[in-house]
Amino acid sequence: MAEIIDGKEVSQHIRKEVSEEVRKLKEETGIVPGLAAVLVGNNPASEIYVRNKRKACGEAGIYSEEYKLPEEITESDLLSLIKKLNEDEKIHGILVQLPLPKHINEAKILRAVSPSKDIDGFHPENVGYLVEGNPRFIPCTPHGIIKLLDYYKIEIQGKEAVVVGRSNIVGKPVSLLLLHRHATVTICHSRTKPLEDVTRRADILVAAMGRANFITGDMVKEGVVVIDVGINRNPDGKLTGDVDFEKVKEKASYITPVPGGVGPMTIAMLLWNTWSSARGSKDS
Ligand code: GUN
Repeated sequence: MAEIIDGKEVSQHIRKEVSEEVRKLKEETGIVPGLAAVLVGNNPASEIYVRNKRKACGEAGIYSEEYKLPEEITESDLLSLIKKLNEDEKIHGILVQLPLPKHINEAKILRAVSPSKDIDGFHPENVGYLVEGNPRFIPCTPHGIIKLLDYYKIEIQGKEAVVVGRSNIVGKPVSLLLLHRHATVTICHSRTKPLEDVTRRADILVAAMGRANFITGDMVKEGVVVIDVGINRNPDGKLTGDVDFEKVKEKASYITPVPGGVGPMTIAMLLWNTWSSARGSKDS
C-alpha cells in the first residue's frame, strides 16, 4: 500500500519560503514582484486556475493583474497587450493561460512574451536553456514534480523513469528534468505499442496524457512511484487523475492523489518563478 504524496503540504512549505523571500526583496530593494495573468475566453477550468494563481500571489505578497479577454479577440490585439506588459516595469512575470482559442497561433503568442518575463518557461529561448541543462525558468508543473520527489527523498539517479504524454507543458520538460537528474527516461504517448510493456518497467511513472483513469493496476510494477498530472472530470463532476488511484495505490510505494498532488505544486512554483524573475530584474 502506497504512501500518499501530499502536494498540499509540500506546496505550503514552498509558498512560505517564497513569501519570506518576497518580503526580504521588498525590504532590501523596494521591488514588489508582479504577475500579469492573461486569460482568453470562458474556459471554466482556466478561469479557476487563474483565480487560484492570483489568490496565491496575494498571499505571498506578489502583486498581480488579470487581463480577461473575449474569446473573439484578434491575434494582433493580444500581441499588443503582451508588448505593453513586456514594457511594464511593475510586471516581472507574464502568464498566458493555455489553451488559447483555435484562431490564435499559440506558438506566436508564446514567442512574443519577453523571455525574461516568461515565468512559465514556454518561450523557445527558455526551452533551449532547459534542454542545455542551464534553465532560466523551469516550467511550473515539471518543477513541482521534481520538488515532490525530493521532498519525499525519492531517488531519481539510475532509476527507470517513464513519462506518458509528450506535451510541451509537462511531458517533454519533465523528461528533461529527470534526465538531468540521471534517470533513464522513456517518453511514451498514444501510439506507443504496447504501452503497458513500457509502463511496467517504470520505477518512476509520470502520467500526463489527460485521459481519466487510464493507467490501471496491471500497467505498473510493485513498488513504483506514481506521479499523476491528470486533471479530468468524471461524468458525475468529480475530479480524477490519469491513474486508477484505488487500484494502483495497492502496488505503488508512493502515489500522488488528484486533487492535492501535483496541482498545488504548479501554483507554488509559479510564485517561485515570479519572485525569481523580480529578483533577477534588480541586476538589469
Ligand atoms: N495550462 C495548463 N497548464 C498550464 C501552465 O502551467 N501554464 C499556463 N500558462 N497554462 C497552462
